[in-house]
Amino acid sequence: MAKETPAYLWLDGKVVAWRDGTIHVASEAVVRGESVFEGVRAYAGDDGKELFIFRNQDHLDRLRQSAKIMRMTLPYSDEELTAAFKALIRANGFRDNVHFRPTVYFGEGESNQFDPSEIDTGMYCLAYRRTRSKAVTEGVKSCTSTWRRNTDVSTPSRIKAAGNYHNSRLAHVEARMNGFSSPLMLNDRGKVSEGPASCFMMIRGNRVITPPVTADILESITRQTIIDLCRDDLGFEVIERDIDRTEVYIADEAFFCGSGAEVTPMLSLDHYPLGAGGVGPITRRVQDHYFDVTAGRVEKYRHWLTPVYGTEG
Ligand SMILES: Cc1ncc(COP(=O)(O)O)c(C=O)c1O
Repeated sequence: MAKETPAYLWLDGKVVAWRDGTIHVASEAVVRGESVFEGVRAYAGDDGKELFIFRNQDHLDRLRQSAKIMRMTLPYSDEELTAAFKALIRANGFRDNVHFRPTVYFGEGESNQFDPSEIDTGMYCLAYRRTRSKAVTEGVKSCTSTWRRNTDVSTPSRIKAAGNYHNSRLAHVEARMNGFSSPLMLNDRGKVSEGPASCFMMIRGNRVITPPVTADILESITRQTIIDLCRDDLGFEVIERDIDRTEVYIADEAFFCGSGAEVTPMLSLDHYPLGAGGVGPITRRVQDHYFDVTAGRVEKYRHWLTPVYGTEG
């Protein structure tokens, strides 16, 4: 489905019309995919007026970690970037759920030089209206990808470097061509890693089990959120450990999670139905709580929410 084209984007310090969002084809971001980015959500509150950026500071921190590992330097402060995100969402007049993507890119220059100051580093941000997907409400049938998740010994899987997403795309497209919605990727040790744009959790008995951050996964903000919500609010034991492929086949329930994927139930893997083959009860509880938290209905997590319109109402 083609995305609706927003009226504005943010590029190198300014909100500009969509058609003016251009960078040179000779930039390293275009030639070699040298950029790092974030995928962030802003959720509508129940009053239909306010939008809340979910865990803005955590996304900014991870963007800086991505830039650090890739030896890039962000040209703006956190305050400037937060103001930019708000300005962009406001300019587009979004009042329903939004997904936005701040990106740090290398422009023209010799990026193979040691010193990052020798290359122009710019930033842009795209923001789209994004409603809840059918996959989130109904769940997905998944398969084990023949592509292995890129490993930290060659490229840093724990961050959002654009180059990692060739790996994601190959896995995703292959799964779709084979009639599945979303693949599960193993790492080079043959253990479960994650989806192409989401982390993975399975449920066995009353325990929620998820691969550790050393399993070549992205250090996901949603994963950590769900671990905390499960432990602190829902009373489940959460275990971070390696998972075998065949262990998923006998799991009671499983789901993908991410800023984009939210909590997407996995109905089956490689045609093995998980549990009763529908959306499981624990997955539903996790989903419901996650949506309450992101919409600002749970007071103790209001500090995770940054209002976009604020005094503008
Ligand atoms: C490869 C990959 N894994 C996991 C995730 C989930 O990360 P987060 O919860 O921080 O959005 C994402 C992004 O959504 C991703 O691109």
